[in-house]
Amino acid sequence: MGGQRLHGSVRVTGAKNSVLKLMAAALLAQGTTTLTEVPDILDVEIMAELLRRLGCGVDHDGPGRRVSITVPKTLAHRADYDLVRRMRASICVLGPLLARCGAAEVALPGGDNIGSRGLDMHILGLQKLGAEVNNEHGYLIATCQQRLTGGSIWLDFPSVGATETLLMAAVTASGVTVIENVAREPEIVDICALLINMGAVIDGVGTSTLRIEGVDHLDPVVHRTVSDRIVAGTWAIAAAMTLGDVTILNSDPMHLQVALDKLVDAGAQVSVLPDGFRVIMDKRPLAVDVVTLPYPGFPTDLQPQFIALNSIANGAALVTENLFEARFRFVQELARLGADVRTDGHHALVRGRAHLSGAPVEATDIRAGAGLVLAGLVADGTTTIYGVSHLDRGYSDFVPALLGLGAHVDRIEADSLFT
Ligand code: UD1
Repeated sequence: MGGQRLHGSVRVTGAKNSVLKLMAAALLAQGTTTLTEVPDILDVEIMAELLRRLGCGVDHDGPGRRVSITVPKTLAHRADYDLVRRMRASICVLGPLLARCGAAEVALPGGDNIGSRGLDMHILGLQKLGAEVNNEHGYLIATCQQRLTGGSIWLDFPSVGATETLLMAAVTASGVTVIENVAREPEIVDICALLINMGAVIDGVGTSTLRIEGVDHLDPVVHRTVSDRIVAGTWAIAAAMTLGDVTILNSDPMHLQVALDKLVDAGAQVSVLPDGFRVIMDKRPLAVDVVTLPYPGFPTDLQPQFIALNSIANGAALVTENLFEARFRFVQELARLGADVRTDGHHALVRGRAHLSGAPVEATDIRAGAGLVLAGLVADGTTTIYGVSHLDRGYSDFVPALLGLGAHVDRIEADSLFT
């Protein structure tokens, strides 16, 4: 039910886009690695199951907050299609498996419906480290002589996934690896911190060039997952859209600089707190242009939420998507609520409307789902969002958190919609 002002505070847990890779990195060290601040989301369950099938023990302590992964001496090295198709991030076991076992077989991933997502940079990079990589029967099959060998790699684009694959492959390779034009996302810094703690030698963390000196082996550690900047950003945008006053805790606003600047341009007051930040909005937002770019640019994972904001803003905004071409698919759903959005290639022109009107809509991926929820919070009447299982993949306890901020929202089993 739209129309409630969100107010109060919400605590963000660890980042989905970090924890899945940290879980994969645990494979590099025999013994028990423990991760804290683990979000209670479906993708963590999928990754846990994948690791179990490779031979690991995975234990949850509490409702998803602390996960311990016990890695045996000998691992299986095949990640099956039935899991990989449910979560593209499964590809992140490719690098560590190859490093640990000298072989890896990983099904080609599915995951979000946000366009074709290549793996060429992962493959070319692994080949530079001495691996042979083939695509056979829907699987990437990678092998190497006993150990990968250090090499020089230049990425055509600062891909998050390719950076992580190559980093995890290189930390135990023989010799030095230099990877240029790497991604600089806080999640990359987080995995570097984990690996360094395990005994890896990595220079240039947080810059565009990583220099990795291979070590013989890594040790298991305890590591706290970096906070989820996309979840934090989603709450910040929700506060601005609903003329709310929301304090977002356990979050680093430095990880959201561009997005928060855009909210200020839209008219919000953003103040930094010791353990997070606060967003207050007291007038209809102004339209703001955004262009998605690799970090530190505006994150593509907040683009649908910003289109939702612009759809009720005063004025018109141009939103440019540079990473995932199919991410605009969700505007067709937003149009069902009355939004005026026209897309042309990777641009979307959003003309703000004073009102949206509630309607049934379908979430097509995690962030599209978040964008639709935000639109539903401000639309007149009731918005029913189908396919919320997408939201379960990335937002822990989303409905309870919304209720805690004063939203009128209910989660309904699909069957009961017809009774
Ligand atoms: C990760 C995040 C995702 C986020 C994205 C960009 C996870 C689980 N997902 O996805 O939420 O939106 O970063 O911040 O962490 N590409 C190639 N060849 C490659 C690799 C990538 O062409 O070998 C292209 C992709 O098709 C895409 C672009 O590069 O257009 C960015 O992809 P990448 O940065 O790798 O994103 P992901 O790691 O898939």
